[in-house]
Amino acid sequence: MRVAMIGAGYVGLVSAACFAEFGHYVTCIDKDVAKVDALRRGVIPIYEPGLADMVEANMAGGRLDFTSEVVASVEAADMVMIAVGTPSRRGDGHADLNYVFAAAREIASALAGFTVVATKSTVPVGTGDEVERIIRHMRPNADVSVVSNPEFLREGAAIQDFKHPDRIVIGSDDMRAREVMAELYRPLYLNAAPILYTSRRGAELIKYAANAFLATKVTFINEIADLCEKVGADVKEVARGMGLDNRIGPKFLHAGPGFGGSCFPKDAVALIKTAQDNDSPLRILETVVAVNDVRKRAMARKVAAALGGFVRGKLIGVLGLTFKPNTDDMREAPSIALITALQDMGAKVRAYDPAGMELAKQVLSDVDYVDGAYACAENVDALVIVTEWEQFRALDLERLRRLMASPVVVDLRKIYRAEDMIRHGFIYSSVGSAVELQEAAPPPRIPLSVNS
Ligand SMILES: NC(=O)c1ccc[n+]([C@@H]2O[C@H](COP(=O)([O-])OP(=O)(O)OC[C@H]3O[C@@H](n4cnc5c(N)ncnc54)[C@H](O)[C@@H]3O)[C@@H](O)[C@H]2O)c1
Repeated sequence: MRVAMIGAGYVGLVSAACFAEFGHYVTCIDKDVAKVDALRRGVIPIYEPGLADMVEANMAGGRLDFTSEVVASVEAADMVMIAVGTPSRRGDGHADLNYVFAAAREIASALAGFTVVATKSTVPVGTGDEVERIIRHMRPNADVSVVSNPEFLREGAAIQDFKHPDRIVIGSDDMRAREVMAELYRPLYLNAAPILYTSRRGAELIKYAANAFLATKVTFINEIADLCEKVGADVKEVARGMGLDNRIGPKFLHAGPGFGGSCFPKDAVALIKTAQDNDSPLRILETVVAVNDVRKRAMARKVAAALGGFVRGKLIGVLGLTFKPNTDDMREAPSIALITALQDMGAKVRAYDPAGMELAKQVLSDVDYVDGAYACAENVDALVIVTEWEQFRALDLERLRRLMASPVVVDLRKIYRAEDMIRHGFIYSSVGSAVELQEAAPPPRIPLSVNS
């Protein structure tokens, strides 16, 4: 099957590579000429484990190509997928659909023969109707079927998610389009990935409702974590006890600094707007967004508390900047609000992230970016773990403590055990447990070079 993928971002590029891996012929189109040039040279513009090898293999196999030229690729395609961004619209938080509608107009001008146009971008309910209206207005006789095919992959595990999805949602009542979509996903169907056929509007809403629910689950456990701190319980125990209940499940019950990323924040707000416009407000989700918004900055107060309330002039090391591990994506990362709040309090910030520092530099200024966790710890008054990258999980605690000016660790992802940290002489604070912030007598500090 010939597929034209519009957009070579986190979703478009991964989807294009995976469809090519299935044996389809995929042209990935992006209006960003520099990105296309880089991809053609084998340079992958995003950090996503396994993606570079997959792109290279499928380009070499002649099944994957990149271009900025829409017409020829869409003309030749049986299936056109829209995977452009749908960021928050400035001012009101509605999804900005300008990129989607621009793509629809470009597709309309190039359609030839029966073509399925599937929207992979996360778009508000009813967007498929508008995409179809745009295409039919420009090309009244085009043989086209507009489908909703929302994407559920997670950055950092995108290939695994794409190849082993919990479900594939296809929103269309058109049997011809359903057949084309079934053929596209046949390799996954053979792997027993369930395909759920729905109405177009149903599919559009499934994506938003799923993200909103997950954001709610995260926010719920974050508030339970706050309560645990007040009443002397440990949120890890509470979450485990809850998660073992099959009706609840263990996922997304990890307390932390608040949700961020390219999807949850903008999708939650966009769904709230859709609901308000339809006179059917989503009060729970409105609260979730409000609670999460204040939480990220509140984490700076947690750091201040661990430092005895005094932050001005202190040097704070931050481990992890991206909104989650295994991505370079900095969109709405909790580190942004945290670091900004620390700077507002008068702290100096040093930071390290294994993949996100280039993008972080575009949003966070006055930060001393260093190369490595130990370099980040040198001479700091406190070290804050913000993103749970694997390489932060087993740091040499002895070395870490000796490097730091004062042994204060604020572990916002709870990747260390309080007992271990206290045993190693740290003053340790995390989320969701009251017992951990204990004054430990700082052991004598032995100067140590970062490279030793
Ligand atoms: N990132 C995720 O984890 C994820 C997961 C599921 C769904 N989604 C959704 O998928 C969509 C894409 O997200 P993303 O993170 O891949 O975005 P992104 O910003 O990484 O990539 C979008 C790409 O589309 C390109 N583009 C925009 N308009 C274009 C046009 N007219 N023609 C060609 N290229 C065009 C941009 O240059 C950019 O490279 C969004 O709606 C998002 O909500 C994202």
